[in-house]
Amino acid sequence: MPETVFDHVPVLAEQVLASLAELSGLLALRSDGEGVLLDCTLGGGGHSALLLEAHPGLRLIGLDQDPSARLAAADRLAPFGDRATIVASNFADYTPPGSGLPPVVAVMADLGVSSPQLDVAERGFSFRADGPLDMRMNPERGETAAELITRLEESELADLIYAYGEERLSRRIARKIKELGPWGGPGKGTAELAYVVAGCYPPKARRGRIHPATRSFQALRIAVNNELGVLDQLLQRAPDWLVPGGLFGVISFHSLEDRRVKTAFVSDERLQRVTRKPLVATEAEEEANPRSRSAKWRVARRRES
Ligand SMILES: C[S@@+](CC[C@H](N)C(=O)[O-])C[C@H]1O[C@@H](n2cnc3c(N)ncnc32)[C@H](O)[C@@H]1O
Repeated sequence: MPETVFDHVPVLAEQVLASLAELSGLLALRSDGEGVLLDCTLGGGGHSALLLEAHPGLRLIGLDQDPSARLAAADRLAPFGDRATIVASNFADYTPPGSGLPPVVAVMADLGVSSPQLDVAERGFSFRADGPLDMRMNPERGETAAELITRLEESELADLIYAYGEERLSRRIARKIKELGPWGGPGKGTAELAYVVAGCYPPKARRGRIHPATRSFQALRIAVNNELGVLDQLLQRAPDWLVPGGLFGVISFHSLEDRRVKTAFVSDERLQRVTRKPLVATEAEEEANPRSRSAKWRVARRRES
């Protein structure tokens, strides 16, 4: 796949490499010097490629529920040959193979959507370009955003926009959306939804740094992909996949995710925090890659027993 179609710059790359540097020591402890990195959100394979380069004993299992991400990652990871295995799976449904591969020394997740998913209008994630109201990361499974909006009662839609978007105008927005009847089809896509949401804001507030539809689109995307539910499952299951001493790292992009990761890393008895405070982007990275502005990277270690 040409680079312009899947152009995703891995966020916090230096911080990820630095805080997983002790993988060298973990791999050296093993008689064959090998261990598995389970990248739960492979995307274009950016973080995975950097970690495979840095640690020659590392083998990769990379999961992604999006076929276009898997294609891009296959291209990017081809130079690593059979060190990299790509699996079509939601990380919430995955169980690592019990035998045949070295043990899992690291699990990582870089949550949310990739830049290409946002940029391709047909995927329906973006309020900046018109496309069908889809928003499914796995385009083969589940309800689209249009179907969700059409199915929900006005009060349920308002609650969803408030809970997942932390949007204080949720009631007004839900009322306007529902007044327009069923969604989906011509003229009822992302551009129209963004227009309707923006119209709920007072004129001055429409011209802020953040587009007025940002929170509502975030809320719908989280609901369509059950993003908080699958994150809870990952946090619950991943510690059991790791060898003692193995590392578990998560990059989150909003407070609803980060709160969950922080709580799990503090309270899960199987884990010990490595990062007390989340690592965030430098000013230079924020400037070069605006996506990195809200990124937070936390790491925990699997306890010995
Ligand atoms: C932010 S991107 C990851 C980018 C990657 N770290 C890189 O450097 O190229 C997130 C990716 O995870 C995938 N994803 C998100 N949630 C997922 C889930 N529950 N199961 C599997 N894949 C998921 C998305 O489809 C997307 O491709």
